[in-house]
Amino acid sequence: MTTLLINIKELLQVRNNDIVKVSGAAMAILPSIKNAFLVIKDDLISDFGTMDDLPVITADTTIDANGKIVLPTWCDSHTHIVYAGNREQEFVDRINGLTYEEIANRGGGILNSAQKLNETSEEDLYLQSASRLKEVMQLGTGAIEIKSGYGLTVEGELKMLRVIKKLAQNFPIAIQSTFLGAHAFPTLYQEKKQAYIDLIINEMLPKIAKENLADFIDVFCESGYFTVAQTEEIIKAGAHYGLRSKIHVNQFNSIGGIQIGVQNNALSVDHLEVMTHEDILALKDAVTMPVALPSCSYFLSIPYTPARAMMAEGLPLALATDYNPGSTPSGNMNFVVATACIKMKMTPEEAINAATINGAYAMGIAKTHGSITIGKKANLIVTKEISSFYQLPYAFGSNLIDFVLIEGKVYE
Ligand code: NIG
Ligand code: FE
Repeated sequence: MTTLLINIKELLQVRNNDIVKVSGAAMAILPSIKNAFLVIKDDLISDFGTMDDLPVITADTTIDANGKIVLPTWCDSHTHIVYAGNREQEFVDRINGLTYEEIANRGGGILNSAQKLNETSEEDLYLQSASRLKEVMQLGTGAIEIKSGYGLTVEGELKMLRVIKKLAQNFPIAIQSTFLGAHAFPTLYQEKKQAYIDLIINEMLPKIAKENLADFIDVFCESGYFTVAQTEEIIKAGAHYGLRSKIHVNQFNSIGGIQIGVQNNALSVDHLEVMTHEDILALKDAVTMPVALPSCSYFLSIPYTPARAMMAEGLPLALATDYNPGSTPSGNMNFVVATACIKMKMTPEEAINAATINGAYAMGIAKTHGSITIGKKANLIVTKEISSFYQLPYAFGSNLIDFVLIEGKVYE
């Protein structure tokens, strides 16, 4: 099956296959081809170039993209879309003056979601999660990472991970699965925290590894949640089972989580709303990708990740949604890209690099996703007719996507 796209106004994020991430000043460059064609063979990109060099090919389907821009689909490397119900009451409580921390301290927050999740059947949880996944795919997400972390019991965590696996089996997009048993201490373990860590390490991890239910391990390293030492104990245990870490750090406080992540070969460190200069320097020349979550900053009214200071030190940066019921009930990567431009002062070129190739790197799939490259998955956003790609963040409330191709097929 061959699909040919012709007359593409601009084809963005055109890369050789040796590029797996972009850092520092290079983030300002978004390579593109104007007046382009692109050929898809089955699920893969097989050729592209300028219309002047269009080869003679017989295609099963030809799409005229006149006036439209084509770019790789978004790679959302940090989500919690498997959850039950919602936390709209906490949203109103925060409007009325309570903080995220105060809500958590009185048993709300993550523990509230854990209670709802444990009361929900696996089938219902799947249906709720699948409808979120469909929505974000229509919004241009073509690869996604999904975390557990609202079970906080052996059964609850396994249930979440099984739902993630079933989503991966039933949907055409790449799904990476992350075990986040260390999201919060369950009520029963508030006075015996080491016992919960032992449960994660000695009961949850071996079962997850045996059923091959996770690609990565995560910990919420934060004051009031998991300490730096506890984080290190848990990610080392994960590494024993071959799970690289992707950790929640520096959301509210800088307590040394970044340094522990870098030292332990973490694939990514995520949130980074509160960053010291030492934290930025710790990420220099590291394999660890820093990931910013601007719609979390927006929703909670907390600081934005200091993207400019980080890129000025030569760091790469990825952008993701953090879609979850508490801090970010939105999985819209278009809004993330716009907010990164508007609030973090990233240029559209930097934000698109961060939301595509660097996002792919942050979930370990940069060899197959995140750029327009021969041999990569044909996962494409085709925009409506727009004046330039600057419209994408500029017209921040509009949906400028005409349609999305996932693995070479239009996603309805
Ligand atoms: O990434 N910070 C930790 N975890 C989530 C929020 C969890 C929740 O409030 O349910 C996050 O923001
Ligand atoms: Fe998160």
